[in-house]
Formats: sequence, C-alpha cells, structure tokens
Amino acid sequence: MITMTQNLFYQKEKIVIKNEMPLLEAFVPEEIQHRDGQKQFVAQALQPAIQNMKTRNVFIHGPTGTGKTLLTQWIMNELKQHCDVKTAYVNCWKKNTPHAVLQDVFSQINIFTNYRHSISELMDKLDKFQQDNRLILCLDEVDAMTDDSLLYDLARSKTGLIMISNDQYALMNLDSRIKSSLASETIEFPAYRASEIADILKQRIDYALMRGAIKQKEIDTIARISSGDVRIAIETLRKAALFAEQQDVVQITQEHIEKSFGTTRYYRKTEALKRLNPHEKSLYLILEKHGELKTQELYERYLEDVDKPTTDRSYRNYMNNMTKLNLVEAEGELTGRRYRII
Ligand SMILES: Nc1ncnc2c1ncn2[C@@H]1O[C@H](COP(=O)(O)OP(=O)(O)OP(=O)(O)O)[C@@H](O)[C@H]1O
Ligand SMILES: [Mg+2]
Repeated sequence: MITMTQNLFYQKEKIVIKNEMPLLEAFVPEEIQHRDGQKQFVAQALQPAIQNMKTRNVFIHGPTGTGKTLLTQWIMNELKQHCDVKTAYVNCWKKNTPHAVLQDVFSQINIFTNYRHSISELMDKLDKFQQDNRLILCLDEVDAMTDDSLLYDLARSKTGLIMISNDQYALMNLDSRIKSSLASETIEFPAYRASEIADILKQRIDYALMRGAIKQKEIDTIARISSGDVRIAIETLRKAALFAEQQDVVQITQEHIEKSFGTTRYYRKTEALKRLNPHEKSLYLILEKHGELKTQELYERYLEDVDKPTTDRSYRNYMNNMTKLNLVEAEGELTGRRYRII
C-alpha cells in the first residue's frame, strides 16, 4: 500500500526533462561553440607558458552570458594538460580586497598563509613561489576589486594575468603606471547572435530533454528573446520545460516560454543589480525615482547625493555599463542624451 507521504514524493514519469543537469549553471559543456576567434586569441597569449616563459596579460570584456568565464576556465584547464603550469581563478566580486584575493590564490596553489600576513609579505611569498613555478591567475569581475594596488603589484610580478569584466572601460581609469606595466591585450566577447544561441541550446537539449520535447520554432523563440545571453536562454529553456511537465504535456509551447521568460527576466535584473558598484547603484536609484532624466540632470543630482562623486568620464562609463547590463536605456547623443530605467 502506498502511504500518503510516499505519494507525496512519488517520482512522476519523465515526459519532458530526461536529465536536468545540462541546464544548470554548474554544468560544464564539452564543447564551446562560436568562440573560435576568442579561443585562439587567449591561447596565443598563454602560449609562452609552454616554453616556461611569462604569458602575456589578457583583458576580456563583453556583456553578461557570453562565455567569458567558461572559456577562460576551459583554456586554463587545457593548458595544464600541455605544460607544468599552476592556475588560480578568483571572482573579485566575492573576494574584493587585495588580501582576500591573495589568500584565495594561495589556498588554490596549496600554500599555507594566515590572515596576519601583510600584502608585501604575501607578494614576497608569491614571487618566491614563481622562482620555480609558473602561475596564471584569472581575476574575474576585476572591476569589483576595491583597490588597484594589487594590480600594480601583480603587473610587476611574473604572474600571467587574465582579467575579465563586463565593462570595456574597466582598466581605463587605472593609474597610467599600472596600465603600462599590465600591457594587456584586449579581446571582446560580443553578445551571441540568435542563430548561435540556438546552436548552443540544441547541444544542451540533446542531453537534457526527451526526444521531440521542443520544436525548432520554440528554440528560435528562446534564442531571439535572450538578447545574446546564453545564461538567460538556458534558464528560460529549463523553466519552460518544468512548466510543461507541471501541466503533464510532452512538448514545450510558446506559452511555457513566455511564462518562463517573465520570471527569468526578473532574475536577470536582480543579478545585474548585484553587480553594480556603489556609484552605479546611486545613479540607478536616482533614475529609478524619476524614471527618465537628461544626462546633465542625472549627473547633477548624483553630485548632490554622494560624498565622493567620480569624474564626468567615469560617470559616462558607469552609464554605459548599466546600459549594457540592460538596466538602463539611452537615447540621443552627447548633451542631448536621455537615460530611462528599464
Ligand atoms: N559558447 C558556449 N557554448 C556552450 N555554453 C556556453 C557558451 N557560452 C556560454 N555558455 C554557457 O552560458 C552560461 C554563461 O556563460 P559564462 O558564465 O561564461 O558567461 P560570462 O560571459 O562569464 O557572463 P557574466 O559576465 O555574467 O559573468 C554558462 O552556463 C555557460 O556554460
Ligand atoms: Mg562570468
């Protein structure tokens, strides 16, 4: 006899999703499609490691969900198959002080440190480590770092750096000495085209969904509405598949996609808001209050609101960044420009 609780946890027949894993953020795909140029570029910069030489520093930028983190982690793993190199990956949004970044690096290369070590002691340790080892360090979301001094120190060490940001101007406001010692090569990861997103989705669909669970037309819809962001596309697909299953139907329809996209968009906005720096946050809040403002007016209100405002140039960079994150819409050029909340 089936008891009440057994009934509650009874597993339904799999009618749409055969394996949810390929639709989750943690899944690492076997193949990275439509990024051959970027793969080549980063591989060339890291190539000197094969001869045990210092690699060239790389700066990667592009909107969210364009494969920046995926490709960098993939390429660092590939390189380790070909030569004796150590790698470390730090998300500066999570570890945003020089101390926290360095502690994280040391724990990844299995070197004991304690929190009482000063930055200069830690840098000495890193230099010593690099007398016999080669280290490649990826600083993801590099603009979230609270202090540029670490970039200055790292740029003068033997460490090979891969820096990632959504903001193409992330390194522009650095002290010119840091910029020149970094001497980084820049590569853009543009938003994917709808056809590219559809290809990437198909690869996941083969692993994740029952045969025939989604038709080409529905795949194209998801690809089109995701604005070049694979993360949104995959999440929209996953939730649409769950909605279909909840309704006990075997195929994903346009309605499932619409419903799913609505919730995904909300998720995207909250994620984007979390990424803003304090200046961007103030600007966003002012704009949210007014809905729409002329650029000059927004800047003036911002100057009134914050204690240590940034320069006019940084202001424009921040607004560009928020536009790219799809939080803000811009219309018009130069002084006639208006910003609107999305
Ligand atoms: N070319 C691709 N092929 C297969 N999957 C991809 C590809 N590009 C991105 N993805 C998938 O899309 C999701 C987002 O990719 P990733 O985290 O690399 O984006 P990102 O550019 O680092 O975004 P963000 O700026 O928000 O950090 C991940 O699940 C990743 O596996
Ligand atoms: Mg990323």
